[in-house]
Amino acid sequence: MNNSLKTTFAVLAALACWTLAAPGMAGEVPKALRGTDVAAPDPAPDAKKFLGGKPGGQEKVARTFRDQPPVIPHAVENFDEITLDENQCLSCHGVDNYKKKKAPKVGDSHFRDRDGKLLEHASAARHNCTQCHVQQVDAPPLVDNDFKGDLVAGKSAKASKK
Ligand code: HEC
Ligand code: HEC
Repeated sequence: MNNSLKTTFAVLAALACWTLAAPGMAGEVPKALRGTDVAAPDPAPDAKKFLGGKPGGQEKVARTFRDQPPVIPHAVENFDEITLDENQCLSCHGVDNYKKKKAPKVGDSHFRDRDGKLLEHASAARHNCTQCHVQQVDAPPLVDNDFKGDLVAGKSAKASKK
């Protein structure tokens, strides 16, 4: 088959498809599930406001299972600098400062390496605090769930009292 014959067949096939499909689709605009035009950008959800101001002023969110990173109960906007040489979270939660600052010391698990071996200093894997600890925000769950944590009430209360 030479090339011009191939092109003729392709055009004919395209025409056939168009004539078959066109009557049913005439005038119908496809409806997008997300409610906006296909080409329109997704509207960003409203930014949520974090709860909590000065440390100590906001009730803690109870932990529900062991090894759950507690949610941060205070604002961090002014002291969330975490760089290679500086970590403002540690200026209150670090081993050398927590007593003076009346802040809970970084968790015991922060002093173990990935094999569970006890370390002298907090593990570097825990340097980026906000990778695990997030601020409180009043956001209702997107879907209902009846998850029950495995922390008994007493233990959970102890953990959140510190
Ligand atoms: C100015 C001192 C200060 C700084 C800086 C600070 N915190 Fe705190 N933080 C506190 C104090 C005091 C508490 C306990 C009182 C409270 O509940 O707010 C606390 C509580 C917490 C808790 C709750 C612990 C629990 O048992 O529920 C977490 C988690 C936490 N902070 C993480 C952070 C992280 C992450 C940063 C850095 C982004 C940070 N904090 C910076 C003083 C500080
Ligand atoms: C890889 C995740 C991870 C990182 C990174 C991390 N944490 Fe934690 N943190 C946890 C978990 C899990 C717990 C609960 C278990 C425990 O107490 O060790 C916890 C507990 C805590 C507690 C409560 C301790 C207590 O005795 O109740 C504080 C305070 C805390 N972390 C602060 C920090 C600070 C400050 C940093 C950064 C220097 C940090 N964490 C980095 C996961 C993390």
